[in-house]
Amino acid sequence: MSSRTSDTSDTFDVLVIGGGLIGLVTAWRAAQRGLAAAVVDPEPGGGAARVAAGMLAAVTELHYGEERLLALNLESARRYPDFVAELTELTGHDLGYRRCGTLAVALDADDRAHLRELHALQRRSGLESEWLSGRECRRLEPMLAPGVRGGLRVDGDHQIDPRRLAAALVAACERSGVVFHRAWAERLDVVRDRAAGVTTADGTELRAGQVVLAAGSMSGRLAGVPRALLPPVRPVKGQVLRLTVPRRYAPFLSRTVRAVVRGSHVYLVPRENGELVVGATSEELGWDTTVTAGGVYELLRDAHELVPGITELPLTETRAGLRPGSPDNAPLLGPSGLDGLVLATGHYRNGVLLTPVTGDVLARLLADGELPEEARPFTPRRFGAALLVEQPA
Ligand code: GLY
Repeated sequence: MSSRTSDTSDTFDVLVIGGGLIGLVTAWRAAQRGLAAAVVDPEPGGGAARVAAGMLAAVTELHYGEERLLALNLESARRYPDFVAELTELTGHDLGYRRCGTLAVALDADDRAHLRELHALQRRSGLESEWLSGRECRRLEPMLAPGVRGGLRVDGDHQIDPRRLAAALVAACERSGVVFHRAWAERLDVVRDRAAGVTTADGTELRAGQVVLAAGSMSGRLAGVPRALLPPVRPVKGQVLRLTVPRRYAPFLSRTVRAVVRGSHVYLVPRENGELVVGATSEELGWDTTVTAGGVYELLRDAHELVPGITELPLTETRAGLRPGSPDNAPLLGPSGLDGLVLATGHYRNGVLLTPVTGDVLARLLADGELPEEARPFTPRRFGAALLVEQPA
């Protein structure tokens, strides 16, 4: 393992492109293993972490055909308590980690049939999930609409505040000696068929033994990466609202409540500090991050059907972010096919949940050259020729 000398501040063992949750946790864990690490990002801790609700929903977000991803999601959920404890002890930050559980409810016969199917899939997968009648749902959460027809109680799906998590990871990186270069990475520099570093928008050339591409939805369009090796990652827009529960209404909801309403997912995530996050749209609109009247309307309409009382709450923030979607909805973790370039991207709906396990497996790869067992199904190699698919403009 090489290490940085004091007068060569632009040369690192590991250079991470992207200062979102995935880039930050990778840099922090790499630094803990004695590697000289840097992060290139104009605003570390920004990006999708500023928008995401922070559900840790391995069980309630289970989808058919995603059993392999389920294993990784569960592994990361299992690591969460120790991860939070370590980060809190190191930084003193409260991460808003809340082991509150989740209730997924049905509003009509179609929704109920959909939830019954999900329940059967969960049980076949050995997951803990309990079917409740509408009355039992309302006993747990009295603010639910009287029309709720039933639901699934999943006590193992929790939440964290992604903004606080990002701030804590920035602090942890700083304490561990990670260098931040606050600029856009403009181009990957390749020397003799090997990733050698990046040139940033301010003209700085940063050099490194290994480069990690962790730029979320933008990972698929970094100049300098050979076209055939660009990760097949696309932006999937999500609009998210933040409301505030006045103290006199507390506790408004005691756990995350979610549903599929007319085919759209809606969730309400109550924080201990009174914030209520309502999300999220899912739109394939390229790089657009406009908050639209239609998006806000649909979220409020669906959330209101679930919990009519939300119309009394102040609406304090609206935002749109971009999920890094991949062809199979799972992340790309591991060697890219270009020597010296490693991928940690494409986490799609599970970036917050997968933060602990991603940091662990990437640090092991960067320090020891070995990709741990749990990450092997997720190497970029699984897409083979699909890496040649058309990239978003
Ligand atoms: N995991 C929640 C979302 O992507 O909206």
